[in-house]
Amino acid sequence: MELILEFKGKLGNYQIVETNDGTFTVHSEFFNENCHSTAGAYEETIYNYIEGCEVERFLAENNIVNILEIGFGVAVGAECLLDKFLGKTQTVVNFVTTEIDRDFAVWALEHSPFAKKYREKFEDLTIQKDCITFKISNFNFIILVGDARETLPTFRNLKFHCVFQDAFSPKKNPTLWTVEWFKLIYELSDPSVILSTYSSHMSIRASLLCAGFLVETRKGFGMKRTCTRASRQEYKKLTAVMEEIKKHAHQALTDSNYQEMLKD
Ligand SMILES: C[S@@+](CC[C@H](N)C(=O)[O-])C[C@H]1O[C@@H](n2cnc3c(N)ncnc32)[C@H](O)[C@@H]1O
Repeated sequence: MELILEFKGKLGNYQIVETNDGTFTVHSEFFNENCHSTAGAYEETIYNYIEGCEVERFLAENNIVNILEIGFGVAVGAECLLDKFLGKTQTVVNFVTTEIDRDFAVWALEHSPFAKKYREKFEDLTIQKDCITFKISNFNFIILVGDARETLPTFRNLKFHCVFQDAFSPKKNPTLWTVEWFKLIYELSDPSVILSTYSSHMSIRASLLCAGFLVETRKGFGMKRTCTRASRQEYKKLTAVMEEIKKHAHQALTDSNYQEMLKD
């Protein structure tokens, strides 16, 4: 399968960009941002999401594990999950992901490195206007097509154990980082949930906290000093980052203030 270097989606053009671990990401013209840091798309995804959300532990402890990914993008999240666990677990995995640009999702299913490795193994591929589903062995994939602020509230079938919060940056993709957004994710999550994200923005940490999550800082990938994890499990005491949010009264992003808050 040939790797296409540029393609057109519903939201403008996309270019393929090589990253430092030799794997690829995509630059979105509409969001004017890469889907991954150039430090390494694949390694970053393993670190931020597979390890950050402790997927291996959830698989060992449960017969069914539900994963929510915010942003299907280049399908690196799906690729890493299968590379690590396909054939190595009998746990049923439901991987629900969201994608605003239908053409980007279709491209990723046909031309991405994920497609190159796994397309021939797809079973029961169904492509509908607002939803794409397929399975590979005990891994079920559901792509909710459209604005996640509209698609996710209608999806109440599963309680999520792991949340890969992988939207574009708060500046470029603010509606996926607000208190209201994280309240929805909280409602849809299992009490044992771990949400992990590459962002270390204090306002998004405050948004998570306002939505009811407990928040902790984690070493970041590559050049990033820190990233963020959130859970619903009680910590014995406030984490340092929660103390800092309270002490400095860091303001959360909300649906009504983000334009003001993210202004330069
Ligand atoms: C950082 S990329 C995700 C990368 C992906 N997780 C991967 O591993 O390749 C962010 C993705 O979120 C999608 N997105 C942005 N805004 C969205 C929205 N409101 N609803 C659903 N998807 C959205 C973008 O089109 C893009 O594919």
